Amino acid sequence: MKKHIAVIRGDGIGPEIVNEAIKVLDAVAEKYGHTFEYEDAYMGGCAIDKFGDPLPESELKKCVESDSVLLGAVGGKKWDSVPGNMRPEKGLLRLRAGMGVYSNNRPAKIWPQLASASPLKPETVAKGIDFIIVRELIGGIYFGEHKTYEDGEKISEDVMKYSESEIERIGRIGFETARRRRKKLCSVEKSNVLDTSRLWKSVMHRLADEYPDVELSDMLVDNCAMQIVKDPSQFDVIVTENMFGDILSDEASMITGSIGMIPSSSLGKTSCGLYEPIHGSAPDIAGQDIANPIGTILSAAMMLRYSFDMPREADDIEEAVGKVLGEGWRTGDIMSAEEGLKRAKCSEMGTLIAKAVKAI
Ligand code: IPM
Ligand code: MG
Repeated sequence: MKKHIAVIRGDGIGPEIVNEAIKVLDAVAEKYGHTFEYEDAYMGGCAIDKFGDPLPESELKKCVESDSVLLGAVGGKKWDSVPGNMRPEKGLLRLRAGMGVYSNNRPAKIWPQLASASPLKPETVAKGIDFIIVRELIGGIYFGEHKTYEDGEKISEDVMKYSESEIERIGRIGFETARRRRKKLCSVEKSNVLDTSRLWKSVMHRLADEYPDVELSDMLVDNCAMQIVKDPSQFDVIVTENMFGDILSDEASMITGSIGMIPSSSLGKTSCGLYEPIHGSAPDIAGQDIANPIGTILSAAMMLRYSFDMPREADDIEEAVGKVLGEGWRTGDIMSAEEGLKRAKCSEMGTLIAKAVKAI
């Protein structure tokens, strides 16, 4: 099969981790006789430097017209002083909205090889951590009106707004995801305070009638934050709005050992998806070849599975990651005092995983 992939390397460690994901995709292409064509697109700080705009129309067009987009990470101190609507992150939000990818899927699963890297008690980890956060990605407070004005003092406003149809379409993804797994859906909101959350909850319950095989529960977001560290084994699929999903997915990643391990997929109405690790651009370690590329490599595997319908190829990548971790290879973020571990650079990790893909 031939696929055209738009590649946004981005800022900080972005280019390094994306290189490793491409190494692994190339190994898959060679093994299965596929052709992956890559086209560089610019978004974030690098686009501000090159074009004076975090996401010029030309770059969005490349992404929308591709078969899918592979993204490293964007942002960094260098662009901290640029106005809010020109920040690198704004490019990311415009990309997500421009591609219409409303459904962001973030798995929190512990690799048995990394159990000792989890900050949770061993007995809690032993109960299992394997859940998915389905995050609404192009609505809510991220996309409401933002303004700062003077009225005797500075005042800022960020509007949080959701329509029934926006909630319904992400709700359905939540129910359908749960249906393919352990059939438990937890809808997370703040309905004791927010109108948007009360609407969210009512739409989820209306949808529940159509999915009688899925057990729906509700949880307030503050309680959910607590339950994720207390007993993560209770969760199968969590569905939540944009900002709550942002916060909970970082928390969920930490209990699995490292945020460097977690991939994500973002999809809308078409098969053209956006695939990115959930971590940031880590400017403090950029250029040192020490970042963990596994979150990006696993994002590439998700691209194969969800956008290109290549489940065997995706399985190979996931198995290869397990194999390399099983051999004791670790980047710095997942290193522990355990015996027999070997430190790998970012580029070595990519090479090891690519080799393992071919050997499977
Ligand atoms: C994420 C990131 C982004 C978000 C930032 C970089 C805008 O934290 O993908 O989780 O908040 O969505
Ligand atoms: Mg985040």
